[in-house]
Amino acid sequence: MSGGAKLVFATHNAHKLREVTTILGEAMELARGVIVGADAVGGPDVKETGVTFAENAVLKARALAEHSGLPAIADDSGLCVEVLGGAPGVFSARWAGTHGDDAANLALLLDQLSDVPPGKRGAWFECAAALVTPDGQSWMESGKLMGSLTAAPRGSGGFGYDPVLVPVGGARTCAQLDPEEKNTISHRGRAFRALAPHIARVLARG
Ligand code: IMP
Repeated sequence: MSGGAKLVFATHNAHKLREVTTILGEAMELARGVIVGADAVGGPDVKETGVTFAENAVLKARALAEHSGLPAIADDSGLCVEVLGGAPGVFSARWAGTHGDDAANLALLLDQLSDVPPGKRGAWFECAAALVTPDGQSWMESGKLMGSLTAAPRGSGGFGYDPVLVPVGGARTCAQLDPEEKNTISHRGRAFRALAPHIARVLARG
């Protein structure tokens, strides 16, 4: 593990680690190497047994704070589709069965929505971001990115369902945005910018 690590992020997803390191780096003073991913501390694979994003985020952060002895952050996030009553929601990462199979998840979702016309394809990304300290204190913030779904994937940036979500007021999918553009409006950007003051206070007290 990096000697300067002071905060651990409960993710094994390199895209998320990059996004959140950038978001927090802009929101607060953070020296390089202060945030490390769960892999750097041999973090446990936590079962996401919660029924809400918030429950899962706290679950993951708590497990990693206990494991590492460092303050831990985590997020749980997903895509919620209006005509599917908010699904895939907490099941976004494993919608087609195998956890993290982005291509299969996307293909299944587009198939399920093949008869849904453009005006009825409203959807949003949602993110709950949690901070838990080794002594068990916790903080939680959340963010949303409202949009609509395309009929076919567009763009090569980002991850997950980015190629099919067009943010409200835009014309490009999240996969066609620069990373900075996505971070400015994204569910994860909003949630972690709101969490940043809590993180700063926890890090300042050492
Ligand atoms: P988590 O790792 O349990 O939070 O699962 C998040 C899943 O939701 C990912 O595997 C993606 O399928 C989806 N997701 C969450 N955030 C995003 C995003 O910013 N873009 C695209 N897909 C996302």
